[in-house]
Amino acid sequence: MAKKALADLSASDVSGKRVLVRADFNVPLDDAGNITDDTRIRAALPTIQDLVEKGAKVILASHFGRPKGKVVDSMRLTPVAERLSEKLGQAVIKCDDCIGDEVAAKIAGMDNGQVALLENVRFYDGETSNDPEFAKQLAANADLYVNDAFGTAHRAHASTAGVTEYLSPAVAGSLIEKELKYLQSTVDNPQRPLAAIVGGSKVSSKIGVIDTLLDKVDKIFIGGGMIFTFYKARGLSVGDSLVEEDKLALAKELEAKAKAKGVEFLLPTDVVVADKFAADANTQTVSVESIPDGWMGLDIGPDSVKVFQDALGDCKSVIWNGPMGVFEMEKFAKGTEAIAHTLADLTGTGCITIIGGGDSVAAVEKVGLADKMSHISTGGGASLELLEGKTLPGIAALDDA
Ligand code: 3PG
Repeated sequence: MAKKALADLSASDVSGKRVLVRADFNVPLDDAGNITDDTRIRAALPTIQDLVEKGAKVILASHFGRPKGKVVDSMRLTPVAERLSEKLGQAVIKCDDCIGDEVAAKIAGMDNGQVALLENVRFYDGETSNDPEFAKQLAANADLYVNDAFGTAHRAHASTAGVTEYLSPAVAGSLIEKELKYLQSTVDNPQRPLAAIVGGSKVSSKIGVIDTLLDKVDKIFIGGGMIFTFYKARGLSVGDSLVEEDKLALAKELEAKAKAKGVEFLLPTDVVVADKFAADANTQTVSVESIPDGWMGLDIGPDSVKVFQDALGDCKSVIWNGPMGVFEMEKFAKGTEAIAHTLADLTGTGCITIIGGGDSVAAVEKVGLADKMSHISTGGGASLELLEGKTLPGIAALDDA
């Protein structure tokens, strides 16, 4: 990695030091305020534990939700502090603010190896506006900075970017290192054949990633609602399926680019269609050439799964971003689930499998296969931007190696 990492620092570099660690603890809560998925908390543990073992005073900062510069009680990080305490096996000192005298006093009272969690940094406008004064106040209570918030690395905010102006060294934590190792190295220096599976409802949100991946992959599989824009561009009738009319030309261009680059471009051969967008809709499976009028496609069909499985068989690396259908509804979850199982099996044969993007990660977790993949990204927007080849400001701001 071209950036300095926590692993480059010795124990004496951090022992007794106040280390500001930006993590992404933006985890889902249920209506009662209970954490329903603590993946991001668990993913942050290696960096925290490493610093604790080295005798640092660990000061954790994170955003939670989008409170828009105001204190919103339901967006406090209290449930995260509790879960962290459990996972670390030591009490986490919870601060009620992220800057100011009270925080300074709590941090001044910390022993080496203790962990404190600041309150939601987005309770201040200065966080998202990357206000230098706010960044300075955050930095005032620390000696050095570790960014391990991969899920927020695509945001140029005070706690992810601005703060690096005031703290040195500013290094990447082990989660960011791991995410870059899988997401970036696999795309830049893959074991081939390299395949990408791109799903999701809209072509418009995946144009960048498909376009960039076409320069890197050997095969690309398209699934999800966006397939109907590609079919319509090919002149097929798609019934009431979702189509982005203004992206028809672009869909054609992407297919033409794949052809010109010699990239195998696979669209599903059959689809599950429904008479309405509802969990209790009537359904049938039809060839993509015969989608009936008045019906909408909501999942890929079994023949498509077979075609995808056969074509994936010889792949040595696969990146998956976006579901194959409306997997939240049981009747339209089979395509996505079958792809999850296929990738889990491929991982078992030594293929590197990487899942990036909130929905495909949720789908893999739903079927209980998360630990069967080589890497599950903790970043939705961040992983997409990285795969698009964009610079992530939270990483760019760190010290060069
Ligand atoms: C996420 O959940 O994708 C990250 O935590 C970033 O959150 P944001 O989209 O509110 O910046």
